Amino acid sequence: MFVLVILTNLLTMYIFTSPSFNWKPSPLGSKNHLSLPLGDPTTLLDELSATKEQLAVSHSLIAEFHKKLNSANLLVEALLTELRSRHEGLTEKEKGSDPMKLWSVAMSDEVMLVVGPHKLPLGYSPRMGSDEVYPPVGGACLRYQEELAQYMTYEVGRECPVDDVFAQRLMLKGCEPLPRRRCHPKSPANYVEPTPFPKSLWTTPPDTSIIWDPYTCKSYKCLIERRKAPGYFDCKDCFDLEGREKSRWLLDNGGLDYGIDEVLKTRPQGTIRIGFDIGGGSGTFAARMKERNVTIITSSMNLDGPFNSFIASRGLISIHVSVSQRLPFFDNTLDIVHSMHVLSNWIPDAMLEFTLYDIYRVLRPGGLFWLDRFFCLGSQLNQTYIPMLDRVGFRNLRWNAGMKLDRGIDKNEWYFSALLEKPMA
Ligand SMILES: *[C@@H]1O[C@H](CO)[C@@H](O)[C@H](O)[C@H]1NC(C)=O
Ligand SMILES: *[C@@H]1O[C@H](CO)[C@@H](O)[C@H](O)[C@H]1NC(C)=O
Repeated sequence: MFVLVILTNLLTMYIFTSPSFNWKPSPLGSKNHLSLPLGDPTTLLDELSATKEQLAVSHSLIAEFHKKLNSANLLVEALLTELRSRHEGLTEKEKGSDPMKLWSVAMSDEVMLVVGPHKLPLGYSPRMGSDEVYPPVGGACLRYQEELAQYMTYEVGRECPVDDVFAQRLMLKGCEPLPRRRCHPKSPANYVEPTPFPKSLWTTPPDTSIIWDPYTCKSYKCLIERRKAPGYFDCKDCFDLEGREKSRWLLDNGGLDYGIDEVLKTRPQGTIRIGFDIGGGSGTFAARMKERNVTIITSSMNLDGPFNSFIASRGLISIHVSVSQRLPFFDNTLDIVHSMHVLSNWIPDAMLEFTLYDIYRVLRPGGLFWLDRFFCLGSQLNQTYIPMLDRVGFRNLRWNAGMKLDRGIDKNEWYFSALLEKPMA
């Protein structure tokens, strides 16, 4: 790296001192730079102005080149500073706890650059609690260092590899958040302006609005028709806005399926204003809430389909975070949290308990937690989940449990729905 720094500096010096690159137009009177041949003064002037133009072009090229060199230099210097601070200046004990030591695979410069440390300017450290910042990457990235290295392999400033599925798998294994990258995601070709709101809420976007590369289906029509296909797909019928999505949460059947209006009526009018839908499929819950002037942020992974793009195209906010991640909201802030199907018995008990505490944390006092169709075995209902919800501290406003209709009776498979409340005090 030292050699690189020295080389780039030498190159810069060479460019700016070499006479052949000296772009400054010399005053016409000075004879040491231009020896003017005698001849027609118009031709001479033409030639002179042509030369001047060429010189101007070379100048801008050189300026550009210099800018690039400078930025390359800065990056190399940043890297060096980081390396130096790691090897010198640290006591032996500090060296032992240095997070960089945890990377066993030789990481590329780009990985080292993104994870830091990044030194803060003087004066910022008291507020941040440290004079250097390590931008977050998921702890489990350490377990998947080779995959992380692959994720971080791209050309700076160019188009990113189309690796959505790969990246998402890495997230689901706990490498979440992923580090930032310095490349541009591939843009959909023939992108058209979105459908205006409110029509967008119930419009299937054009196929040209997304990149289909990672998916088996290459159109929304295919995704919609998939609901009839055999096999398991995540949120199989969610993309059909004319199908079941149209009626979800509109009718309260007095059992497992609650109506949005019935839930909102449990609170003074207008006091449920903002909330979060965990694993909200194609965003229909948020759409119905928006029609009632409630702003819902929907989290979704893109499992088996472009859920995030679809939600966003409806004019709703989607965030691409898994259920494992700490919710990106502050304590006591949200009026409502909803989740359908996603929170179920596939989540290991200990992890689920942390999730429930996190939901409790972000809800304001008196906020609602609508746990919609939680799937489990009959034995787990009484033994595991009811005690867990009690333990976390929710108050029960409504509770319904029912055996799963198709195979429930043989297998003792159950659903329960609950409307819970974070107590006022
Ligand atoms: C939503 O808010 C708008 C503007 O304040 C209002 O005109 C409309 O009636 C509200 N809709 C509902 C369903 O409350
Ligand atoms: C759970 O316990 C309640 C009360 O003891 C009982 O009525 C119910 O049948 C139990 N549910 C299941 C699914 O075992």
